[in-house]
Amino acid sequence: MQTIQSLRGMNDIKEQDGVLFLYFIENCSLIAKRYGFDFISTPILEQTSLFVRSVGNSSDIVTKEMYRFTDKGENDVCLRPEGTASVVRSFIEKKLDKAGGVHRFYYFGPLFRYERPQKGRLRQFHQFGCETIGESSYMEELNMIDMLTKIFQFFKITFKLHINSLGCQECMPSFKRDLVKTLHTIKLCDDCVKRAITNPIRVFDCKNKDCQNKLKNIAKITDSLCEVCQKDFDSLTNMLDNLDIPYTIDKNLVRGLDYYTKTAFEFISADIGSQDAIAGGGRYDKLVSQLGGKDRSGVGFAIGIERLMPLIKIDKQKKDMWYIATTTDEAIQMLGKIVSSKRKSTCVLTDYKKRSWTKHISNATKKGATHLAIIGQDEFQDGTIWTKNLITKDEKIVTIKEFKELN
Ligand code: HAM
Repeated sequence: MQTIQSLRGMNDIKEQDGVLFLYFIENCSLIAKRYGFDFISTPILEQTSLFVRSVGNSSDIVTKEMYRFTDKGENDVCLRPEGTASVVRSFIEKKLDKAGGVHRFYYFGPLFRYERPQKGRLRQFHQFGCETIGESSYMEELNMIDMLTKIFQFFKITFKLHINSLGCQECMPSFKRDLVKTLHTIKLCDDCVKRAITNPIRVFDCKNKDCQNKLKNIAKITDSLCEVCQKDFDSLTNMLDNLDIPYTIDKNLVRGLDYYTKTAFEFISADIGSQDAIAGGGRYDKLVSQLGGKDRSGVGFAIGIERLMPLIKIDKQKKDMWYIATTTDEAIQMLGKIVSSKRKSTCVLTDYKKRSWTKHISNATKKGATHLAIIGQDEFQDGTIWTKNLITKDEKIVTIKEFKELN
């Protein structure tokens, strides 16, 4: 019979990758908690309109990449392509926009985008993200960027930070009007012609070399910021200097999601090939009101976990792990009792089949156990158990009572 394969661009995370994945999530969660973020988990399936109204009608994500279908109740739904809109939806639904104050959330989980799969680009991928709602100060972008540098330093990942300001309701509309006029005078690729109509600043994101050359010398939003945006951007870069966080001002950085205002940033790795963005984020001061809530500022980021996995190395220091087994069927129930009791305090692997001493010893080593305990025929009769510390190589036979107390 033909076997069933996973879908293209969708991977299982298992064995060593599973270990790395959990290690990454656990440590990012610890760091996020240190910065005052609380955990949130939102559903994977959402109403399609949530992303149309936030990520935007002109974005590639909404126009080309959503896993969208009609469910049995005739609802237009999709698998979430990103996490920010869902967090904001939940925030408004819980009426936190009316409560006021600053709210910080962190999350992780799978996202879905129907893109052409390649190295570092999947159709199901995972993000670790943070969102702060209700804080309008540029210090919150600083908080996020500072946290991201701590995360990358923890995992010993080298990165480059690119940063830009996209302006606000004051300066962005007039810049866009002037840009459209300029774009009419330049011959660009078909995609850019469409972008000029739907969201003109996205032309700066075009990967076509000819477009990039033609757009090189025209004015960018960063050159036309209003006084408030300019001051905030200068204060932010000044603080980055103060914290010794190196950055490049990238005037072409516009991001692929339409909800950004003011600060936009991306972290890039030189060690993972062409899909080199390891995290992206920015400010979204209009998103809460755009989705029907009160006017509340927002800022956030998301890290692409799969892109980082090849770069993460786990601290070699081994945690204690017992492998407890038996060579005789008679001791199976005794083994069950000992394993259950030992698991109150430590991690235990076991094997409920009777096997030879050599087989158990080789299994324990393969599975990375640090301690081994075997009930052989003699031990079963004596009410004892043979133990070996696989690191120091010390061996001893102890009574079952002593074993339960052994660390
Ligand atoms: P994004 O730039 O679309 O932003 O995604 C963030 C990160 O997710 C990227 O930098 C990349 O590492 C990873 N990523 C994106 N697409 C893929 C893919 N197809 N395969 C593998 N990894 C991928 C957002 O999603 C925003 N929600 C970030 C944000 C949060 N902005 C404000 N708050």
